[in-house]
Amino acid sequence: MASRRSARTLLSGLNSLRNVAANHVRASTTLRPTNLRRFSLAAAARQQQAMAESSAPLTENSIVEATTAKEGITLKFGDLTTTEMPYVWLRDNCRCPDCYSPEALGRKFLLTDLQVDVQATKMESNAEMVRVEWDDGHVSEYPSEWLHARAFTPTARAKRRNTYAYKREPWGADHRLKEFDYETMKKDDKVLLEWLVTMETQGSAMLKNVPDKETAGPEMIEHIAFVKQSHYGPRSPVINRPNTNNVAFTNAKLGMHNDLPQYEQMPGIIFIHCVEQHVGTGGESVITDGLFGAEYLRRNHPQAFEILTSTDSYFWDKGHANYSWEMDEFYKIARFPIITLDSQKEVVRIAVNNAIRDSYIDLPAEKVKHFYSAMKLFNDILYDNSLVFKMDSGDMMTLDNVRCLHGREGYEAFSGRHIESSYLDWDEARCRRRRIQEKLGLLKTI
Ligand code: OGA
Ligand code: ZN
Ligand code: ZN
Repeated sequence: MASRRSARTLLSGLNSLRNVAANHVRASTTLRPTNLRRFSLAAAARQQQAMAESSAPLTENSIVEATTAKEGITLKFGDLTTTEMPYVWLRDNCRCPDCYSPEALGRKFLLTDLQVDVQATKMESNAEMVRVEWDDGHVSEYPSEWLHARAFTPTARAKRRNTYAYKREPWGADHRLKEFDYETMKKDDKVLLEWLVTMETQGSAMLKNVPDKETAGPEMIEHIAFVKQSHYGPRSPVINRPNTNNVAFTNAKLGMHNDLPQYEQMPGIIFIHCVEQHVGTGGESVITDGLFGAEYLRRNHPQAFEILTSTDSYFWDKGHANYSWEMDEFYKIARFPIITLDSQKEVVRIAVNNAIRDSYIDLPAEKVKHFYSAMKLFNDILYDNSLVFKMDSGDMMTLDNVRCLHGREGYEAFSGRHIESSYLDWDEARCRRRRIQEKLGLLKTI
């Protein structure tokens, strides 16, 4: 806060001094005179005049200094941040209509035509823009606000990372699910946004007062984007089915698991709607944060963590339809580790499912026992940090299915218990979050 205020004070000072500064800022930098293209002196003078005639007040995005170096331009902005902007990146991201489609918001310029060693022959700037002439004769102009947003500084890079995805906040057994009213969330985009952000950060929430109908989950998902289908169709009645095609559709206890790891693209968010809860003991839910568990494992049991992040498991599902909307016959096999890391070694997917985990293991026999020890340890950690509760009829639990795990207690065979499950992919959830943020003026697309 203090630094923002001092930047603002400085900005007002800068504004009053802009005529003095302009002489410095607006100087054009001519590089490598031998490479200079010929152009009319009158045109150059007109260009210089246009560059100098910028009357907008200086802002945090304004360019207050621009200098050229061997590999790129160094820019200083009104907020006092400084960044290098490599020539190769600038040339790749030329905004002109030959290089970029302003309708499609996509690059037309081909990597084939990009010279990694491209050099500027001339650079001019004012508070609002930078203009570069390239050694291939092309000319590019970049607005200062556009450049500021893409600065190669830790702050600007972190901002983009947040637009991509919110930072997840791991939780333990003391976690309480944030509650949302189903109808309010459907009617009010601000509430929907709060749910979307909660799902990104906490990976869990509870919708209350859900209408008493089997399609309430898919209807909410269709309001957000569209349903992620599986071979079980757009929704699954989780009841004790005769001739069942999944252990979940029995009255058995389900250990904590992620849904559908038999898909290489596991569904992102699961909606678990309690249409009717079992009366009496049984049917309780248990949930845990797999991210919390995985980080605990990484810190305290690095060898087990190494095994679970580097050993692929098969997850398989073979069967037949119980309902008309299910695939007649299915035979899925997916393969990945129980804990998947990204290029930064961050946990990006947890895949635990005892019913779906294959009995085939692609390991030499002597490694099998170590693998089971690691799985058991992780399972114990997940249960040690779990919470148990019983959903009421009309509740709908939503969970990040590649992060949080859920399970349920078994219940009597002849029960009215009825759960409906359906899914939404993360790409669509984050897409909706950005669209609402943009609509509410919380996300500016430059
Ligand atoms: C499932 C499941 C939870 C429940 O169907 O995959 O986890 O409470 N159901 O029945
Ligand atoms: Zn161009
Ligand atoms: Zn499940």
